[in-house]
Amino acid sequence: MKIIRSPEIMHEVSKIHLFEGTTIGFVPTMGALHEGHMSLVRKAKSENGVTVVSIFVNPAQFGPSEDFDKYPRTIEADIERSQREGVDILFIPDAKSIYSDTFATYVNVAGLSDKLCGAFRRGHFTGVATIICKFFNILMPARAYFGQKDFQQGMIISRLIKDLNINVKLTVCPTVREKDGLAISSRNSYLNAQQRRAATVLYRTLLSISQAIKAGDSNLIVAKKEMNNMLKAEPLISEIQYAGIYSPDTLDEIFELEKENLLATSVRIGDIRLIDNMIVTL
Ligand code: PAF
Repeated sequence: MKIIRSPEIMHEVSKIHLFEGTTIGFVPTMGALHEGHMSLVRKAKSENGVTVVSIFVNPAQFGPSEDFDKYPRTIEADIERSQREGVDILFIPDAKSIYSDTFATYVNVAGLSDKLCGAFRRGHFTGVATIICKFFNILMPARAYFGQKDFQQGMIISRLIKDLNINVKLTVCPTVREKDGLAISSRNSYLNAQQRRAATVLYRTLLSISQAIKAGDSNLIVAKKEMNNMLKAEPLISEIQYAGIYSPDTLDEIFELEKENLLATSVRIGDIRLIDNMIVTL
């Protein structure tokens, strides 16, 4: 496994692979690699000649009061895990090589970026769209892999690719869950034992509402209320940012069932923000 830290060298290496006709599969991460990331790596490896994983805690996607400084950084373990999983290239740039002193260009996917998580994390998706656009330019991947846990992020990248005619095929892979249903996330490491137990309420709530809808409950006002009640019943939840049923195409709240329906929620347990979602297909 090669470790590349310079964007210029990464670009040159990618050019050689392109010239040789080898496709690049790209898995962007902020490190603290876990089973969710590994599922993306496996998918990338099965579909491409070369798999590149980036590890970059992107300052542009954190607000001033967010967890940039304390975001888990486990680089030695990440390198070891990537090697074990058969990653070909780890791209680990530093912030200065990505954002120069004169950096002034941001990519904003208007509309979609302001809904759901975007309403609580102003500027977050502009930071995500900007770094992904830069990585696409540096790496020139044929395919890029994201997890469904960050459903809105996947939609925004998909729109970015379409709107800016970027030649990358996006694949959104299923959320990987712990045995008790908790969606695997690097931020789960912030949870203490009690909070970790409480966090399963997200999955239990989504599952219960999804089963009710599949069994014929079609009143989405009642379903949303029930969803909020289940979350509120967990005393360690300090804030429900959103919990409801949305169109997976627009992220707008829906009041009548469609073929595909997005159940999504964001809550805080203490000051730890957790998100989860489920698609209900009828
Ligand atoms: O989902 C993440 O880890 C990040 O938002 C991403 C896609 C790596 C961009 O920094």
